[in-house]
Amino acid sequence: MMLIELPDFQTKNAAKPWPLQGRVSKSGKTMIEKAYHDRDGHIWMNGEFIDWRESKVHLLTHSLHYGSAVFEGNKVYEGEIFRLTDHSTRLVNSAKLLGYEIPYTVEEIDQACLDTLEKSGLSNAYMRPVAWRGSDMMGVASKNNQIHFAVACWHWGNYFTDKMKGIRLCISDWKRPAPDTSPCKSKAAGLYMICTLAKDKATATGWDDALMFDYRGRVAECTGAHIFFAKGEELHTPTNDILLEGITHDSICKLAKLRGYKVVKRDIMPEEMKDFDECFVVGTAAEVTPVREIDGIHYKPGKICEAMLNDYNDCVHGKIKI
Ligand SMILES: Cc1ncc(COP(=O)(O)O)c(C=O)c1O
Repeated sequence: MMLIELPDFQTKNAAKPWPLQGRVSKSGKTMIEKAYHDRDGHIWMNGEFIDWRESKVHLLTHSLHYGSAVFEGNKVYEGEIFRLTDHSTRLVNSAKLLGYEIPYTVEEIDQACLDTLEKSGLSNAYMRPVAWRGSDMMGVASKNNQIHFAVACWHWGNYFTDKMKGIRLCISDWKRPAPDTSPCKSKAAGLYMICTLAKDKATATGWDDALMFDYRGRVAECTGAHIFFAKGEELHTPTNDILLEGITHDSICKLAKLRGYKVVKRDIMPEEMKDFDECFVVGTAAEVTPVREIDGIHYKPGKICEAMLNDYNDCVHGKIKI
């Protein structure tokens, strides 16, 4: 992660509904991540590479106003993009769910990602393919807008550090929406406003992340990761009827079965959470991250967390095939 010192005037005078997120350095200065617009490199945009600093969109971009960008988060391990085609396929489907077609095939999206990685020279990275409706027309109607597509890639290490220590989750006030109130299977920018509200409030009140329930009160997911609970050698995970089809979730189910663990996908109610021994969250960025507390319920990351963490690490590095 690229960290820079935040000038004093920004920490003192900034209007901040919740405390600024950042780390305090040894000198007592607040450190923040270097702004993404203030970096060097290249971005693949609409079929060509452009300078990182020139990757601009117009103010009147339809998706900026109406939330219809769709995106992926891919992770690169030692030069290999993990489950690239699955991510590209999900991206194309996310756009279809919002009523538009990305003007590139899954194969072309894969190739754009591979080319972007090569151009970056990085071997461990995070990659962000994104598609959006352009600025050809304004208003809720969208059909005359051209669809744009871009891929950016940057160095990114672990999302949570010191993993076996486990993270602490609060319970969010926000609920995952019903399937008839949102295109819930789309990785659509607009759906992330709930995640951002939940995550910002969690970190501002001393938690690492928030666990969201869904519109029916069932345990759903974290702000960027799915959740698993373990009892003995059984893994329990929420029924995935209204959540994003998680690529890491799928990998973990397969890896758990390879180990001989039973995987149970079912509706999990909040009052059941105390009955499990271990808990962990999974996602492309979070990878496998053990949980040590959910709002007063304590777990001890143990054998299962460690096994899944190690197996996932072996899997993304090509040492276990699924
Ligand atoms: C809300 C949400 N849930 C779950 C996930 C995990 O999905 P994946 O494993 O495909 O990265 C993500 C990340 O994309 C997410 O944003």
